[in-house]
Amino acid sequence: YKQLKWSVQRNNTDIIMEGALIARDRVGVQDFVLLDSHTSEAAFLNNLRKRYQENLIYTYIGTLLVSVNPYKELDIYTVTQMQLYRGVNFFELPPHLYAIADNAYRVMCSEYNNHFILISGESGAGKTEASKKILQYYAVTCPTTEQLQVVRDRLLLSNPVLEAFGNAKTLRNDNSSRFGKYMDIQFDFKGAPVGGHILSYLIEKSRVVHQNHGERNFHIFYQLLEGGEKDLLCWLGLERNPQKYAYLVQGRCAKVFSINDKNDWKIVRKAFSIIDFTEKDLEHLFGIVASVLHLGNIQFEEDSNGHAIIRNGTQIKWISKLLGVHLSILQEALTHRKIEARSEEVLSPLNVDLAFYARDAVAKAIYGRTFTWLVNKINGSLANKDSTRKTVIGLLDIYGFEVLDTNSFEQFCINYCNEKLQQLLIEMTLKAEQEEYEMEGIEWEPIPYFNNKIICDLVEQKHKGIISILDEECLRPGEATDLSFLEKLEEKVGDHAHFVTRKLADQKTRKSIDWVDFRLLHYAGEVTYCAVGFLEKNNDLLYRNLKEVLCNSKNGIVRDCFLLSELDSRRRPETVATQFKNSLMSLIEILMSKEPSYIRCIKPNENKEPGKFDDCLIRHQVKYLGLMEHLRVRRAGFAYRRKYEHFLRRYKSLCPATWPHWHGPAAEGVERLIKHIGYKPEEYKLGRTKIFIRFPKTLFATEDAFEIRKHLMAQDLWTWAVQIIRKFIQGFINRKKPLCPENVEFVRLVQYKYLMKLRDHIPRNVLDKSWLQPPSILEEISEMLQKMCIRNLVRKYCRGVTPERKVQLQQKAVTSAIFRGKKEGYQQSINLPFADTRLKETDINPKVLQLIQGEKVKYATPVVKYDRNGFKARERLLVLTQSSAYVVEMAKIKQKIDYATLKGISTSNLGDGIVVMHVPEDNKQKGDVILQCEHIFEMVTKLCMLANKQNLVKVVKGSLRFRIGSGKEGTMVFTVGPEPHVFKAKDGQLTVVRKPSAAGD
Ligand SMILES: Nc1ncnc2c1ncn2[C@@H]1O[C@H](COP(=O)(O)OP(=O)(O)OP(=O)(O)O)[C@@H](O)[C@H]1O
Ligand SMILES: [Mg+2]
Repeated sequence: YKQLKWSVQRNNTDIIMEGALIARDRVGVQDFVLLDSHTSEAAFLNNLRKRYQENLIYTYIGTLLVSVNPYKELDIYTVTQMQLYRGVNFFELPPHLYAIADNAYRVMCSEYNNHFILISGESGAGKTEASKKILQYYAVTCPTTEQLQVVRDRLLLSNPVLEAFGNAKTLRNDNSSRFGKYMDIQFDFKGAPVGGHILSYLIEKSRVVHQNHGERNFHIFYQLLEGGEKDLLCWLGLERNPQKYAYLVQGRCAKVFSINDKNDWKIVRKAFSIIDFTEKDLEHLFGIVASVLHLGNIQFEEDSNGHAIIRNGTQIKWISKLLGVHLSILQEALTHRKIEARSEEVLSPLNVDLAFYARDAVAKAIYGRTFTWLVNKINGSLANKDSTRKTVIGLLDIYGFEVLDTNSFEQFCINYCNEKLQQLLIEMTLKAEQEEYEMEGIEWEPIPYFNNKIICDLVEQKHKGIISILDEECLRPGEATDLSFLEKLEEKVGDHAHFVTRKLADQKTRKSIDWVDFRLLHYAGEVTYCAVGFLEKNNDLLYRNLKEVLCNSKNGIVRDCFLLSELDSRRRPETVATQFKNSLMSLIEILMSKEPSYIRCIKPNENKEPGKFDDCLIRHQVKYLGLMEHLRVRRAGFAYRRKYEHFLRRYKSLCPATWPHWHGPAAEGVERLIKHIGYKPEEYKLGRTKIFIRFPKTLFATEDAFEIRKHLMAQDLWTWAVQIIRKFIQGFINRKKPLCPENVEFVRLVQYKYLMKLRDHIPRNVLDKSWLQPPSILEEISEMLQKMCIRNLVRKYCRGVTPERKVQLQQKAVTSAIFRGKKEGYQQSINLPFADTRLKETDINPKVLQLIQGEKVKYATPVVKYDRNGFKARERLLVLTQSSAYVVEMAKIKQKIDYATLKGISTSNLGDGIVVMHVPEDNKQKGDVILQCEHIFEMVTKLCMLANKQNLVKVVKGSLRFRIGSGKEGTMVFTVGPEPHVFKAKDGQLTVVRKPSAAGD
């Protein structure tokens, strides 16, 4: 039976191994490397579609995860699912985010290195959801302590705050992240999350002042107006109506059915309190949010000189209050510009257009910098201050390749970023492949791939790249415009293979490019950018006098964001593109030092509709995400590779030499195995620890053979099981016969079971008399075993007895022999240990000690002596030595009884404490001694043991005779009465009354 069970279990582990192979015929392949035609885009799409329609949104390309947004809640993110993926071999379960997260985590814990998970995809593809799910996975599955739960909550709650300020409804996504985010989760050596750090990239500031139709400003504005408490709004000078604010209504959708701003406000407020924001912080923060709204409502009018003026002062009054700046200074700053004239600074009035421009610039600048402040503040609350070494897993949730109808400076930056990340991906994948080959001792076969460094260089190269040219145009004196920038581009990079403008293009292409456009041939495809606005967005400068106002603000956050030192600096600040380029460079550096995992998110349709798989849209994304390229690189060498142990464990039944057990090294077992099933040399390579299989079809053939074999094995197993059961029944029928071939196994099984059970049921101590009932065929053996067991327990017990206890026990044994079952009170006395003596030698008068001639006192106790005639009670001491007993009064010995002459010792059967020592009739002796003693059992035992007269002790019932002396005898009667009493009755008999005992014994 045991064998049977074991076989079944082992088969199950085989079955859960290699989820991808098991499920291959059900819904496409779980891993694109197993596609037969791996270069066919159609096959790729088919596989993706087939799976998506079965709600299987995840598919691997090796260790990269492709995810298709389901646009509906799937039941695959429960805690049970999390537990399922925890600590399980990557290939054993269906593809999942959790498998990626768990794999990174486990490698981090075992190899103590750093990781990152790069999540990319276009807007609405599910990047942010994926990153949140991974964070939740760690929050639930990683070990933690009570202290660390604070860190965990902060990590989780930093999200709603950042999303409130950094996300907005767009046409493509109701919760679109308008900034790039990289978040490090730090773990201690036990694998517990202990801190975090966030980096943000390029927040889309232009959204603060302008939104396209169908889009909104950042969530926080609407949340504040919908959810903010009445007092708060009143204090901020706001009305609970987004329609009243120019910055909120340009998209004409301030209220959206799918967004619950009021509820979100509550979540954000709660999150603020957990991540350590003080009331003061929040006062300043909401002061800024409100100021932006007020700024948007400022209207400029033209005075008679054509200069801008503000007629309605309501808004600037509120701004002046909330930002803590002087009203008239603010008013002046918004309508003037500081310029240098004849080495002096003078204020020059602005016209209306420029005033609006300046106003928007302030709104964008304070919002943008506040966002950066917010990230820093959150980092403060996530920071782990202790200096022990930590490992990290970084989550990068960053905008994917973006191609819109009109592509502007933002798309240029975003696509440049994707170009860089693609380069990183290809480099790291190639590197990892190369390293694996090297480690396994397999010759490297060069893989042809498109190296997009050429495009990265086109954008970022110093002096020659597009960003340098843009900076130069922004910073040079004179009238630079977007068009002059375009001309510069043509001049400097016009001959680059990946750059085209209308002027440079051939006849055919020319039509699709406008005069103000330039086109880049990205790795993912062509994108046409409109140069309009590039200069302005890249420069994004505030007039100096406005900056001065903000530097002197009393609002703590504004003051933190606009430092006075900025005003002193003669150098112009870095342009937006250069800042972005630099932050991207350092991001790449951060990533290069870590082990990568990748998640590529795909948006299945434009309508956020579940179940709809838009082929055309998805084909585009597959291309932009570089998935075919990645698959090609992964498949260029070998489609499949596994550790020898895993491969052998699965397929060993296919070769007689390896089945059922292979005892040599796994590598040799695999070699035997594949030789037996006939792999051709070009189909595989053997590395140091892994077998590499070039084509999926080889693997599938092996897998099919395994399936057939498994069925045969199952049949064998059943036949075998039937035999076992038959044998069992035979054995049972013949169990009572002497051992014979029919019953021997059964009897052995019964014996084995009884003995195994007995092992857990043997008595634990000498008093435990229980014994497990044996089956009849084992009765004799069981009896022997029981005897042995008891003997053993007794021996153990005896060895554990101390010398003092031994003496006690010897005495008690004598007491028992005399009194057990005969005298009242015996039972109760058993547990009371005997004293060595009741009186020490020092308690005895020294004269007496002299009189007993230096004999050592063995035992002494106070007693009551009754005289033989009047039965008067007198207090005496009884002293026992080695040879005699003495009745002592103070310094006198009243009577000495030589043990040798002692004729008998009597007690009654009642609990009266009376003892009579019978002495012989001679002149020296006065007669029998009648004593009453509190510790009667102790005293009699000591006496008879010293005198060696155990056999002379009598326990009498009713009455006894005693000698008074000089030939006369008396009678003592023992009765029961209400009061204990010893007296001479009228008939002259000594009468001993004792109270009826409560125990009744
Ligand atoms: N795994 C998922 N299960 C269910 N719904 C999802 C899942 N992933 C994404 N969604 C849905 O898609 C929406 C958009 O996802 P998400 O905000 O993650 O996109 P994104 O890639 O971060 O886009 P953006 O670049 O605009 O920030 C979510 O609000 C959610 O409704
Ligand atoms: Mg997002």
